[in-house]
Amino acid sequence: MADLTNKTVIITGANSGIGLEAAVALAQQNAHVVIACRNPQKGEAAKAEIISRAGRGSATLMSLDLASFASIRGFAKAALDAYPAIDVLLNNAGVVMRTRSCTVDGFEQTFGVNHLGHFLLTSLLLERINTTPNARIVTVASHAHKFAKTGLNFDDLESVHGYKAMNVYGKSKLANIMFTNELARRIANTTTTANSVHPGFVASNFGRNDRLGNVAMILAKPFALSPQRGALTSIYCCSDPAAQGVSGKYFYKCAPEEPTSFATDDAAAKRLWEISEQLIAKAS
Ligand SMILES: NC(=O)c1ccc[n+]([C@@H]2O[C@H](COP(=O)([O-])OP(=O)(O)OC[C@H]3O[C@@H](n4cnc5c(N)ncnc54)[C@H](OP(=O)(O)O)[C@@H]3O)[C@@H](O)[C@H]2O)c1
Repeated sequence: MADLTNKTVIITGANSGIGLEAAVALAQQNAHVVIACRNPQKGEAAKAEIISRAGRGSATLMSLDLASFASIRGFAKAALDAYPAIDVLLNNAGVVMRTRSCTVDGFEQTFGVNHLGHFLLTSLLLERINTTPNARIVTVASHAHKFAKTGLNFDDLESVHGYKAMNVYGKSKLANIMFTNELARRIANTTTTANSVHPGFVASNFGRNDRLGNVAMILAKPFALSPQRGALTSIYCCSDPAAQGVSGKYFYKCAPEEPTSFATDDAAAKRLWEISEQLIAKAS
């Protein structure tokens, strides 16, 4: 176990599944864990569970809805006011939407939450993270990025045409890896690292926001990892001394792995970064 005494760790979507287990484990390493959640009741229950199961560290609940730029900005301001140092940002929250819907700001929900929301959150916290020695930014992506067989469609990033849930989800996870790689290049002159993660196939609450997803998850449960095991690679990237200084990698089973060639296309990653900035600026 690493020693995270006096370290501040922010985790999105920490009230459930992989994020909750990562929060427990990082609190066990004596971190102060900030759980960034959209639902106050679920957030309070998670905070109580983290404190009781970890038996060490501490936890604070803060409100964050990644489907709302105003909420993200409010969260970032509160976090910057509260924490002079941010040692770890774990961009963990994620959704898959069976039918197309939009965020508060009018962006397709899966792309909006999984990519744009974390893009804005990271951007707003980046200066503080970069002034914290040896900070780490970890983004939970997925092998589902392989579903994006032709890469990102820059002419239809919001899947207005031919919405297929798993394809749209796969593209959002591809965007997570591309974002991480471009971020790693942009912060190469700092002591901060940025890596992305595939947790494995995990029996969490993922996809349970509709009946079909719920049934699919129940049927698949015997073949899936427990959330505790699914959190191991996130925990490794957030705190293991062996991962210190490693940046711009995609991790699976606590080791770097090669994602698809679309994920390592530097020009496309730069383009995604610039378009993401423009989309957010236009919505503001
Ligand atoms: N499960 C898998 O097999 C698997 C495989 C590969 C990658 N992943 C990735 O792992 C990450 C964690 O997923 P999980 O499996 O632990 O699923 P989960 O149990 O459903 O947890 C997802 C978390 O994201 C939060 N979230 C969703 N939308 C949000 C929003 N708009 N604002 C803030 N928080 C939001 C959820 O909050 P609520 O409880 O309020 O909905 C929940 O805390 C995701 O990024 C997912 O893509 C999962």
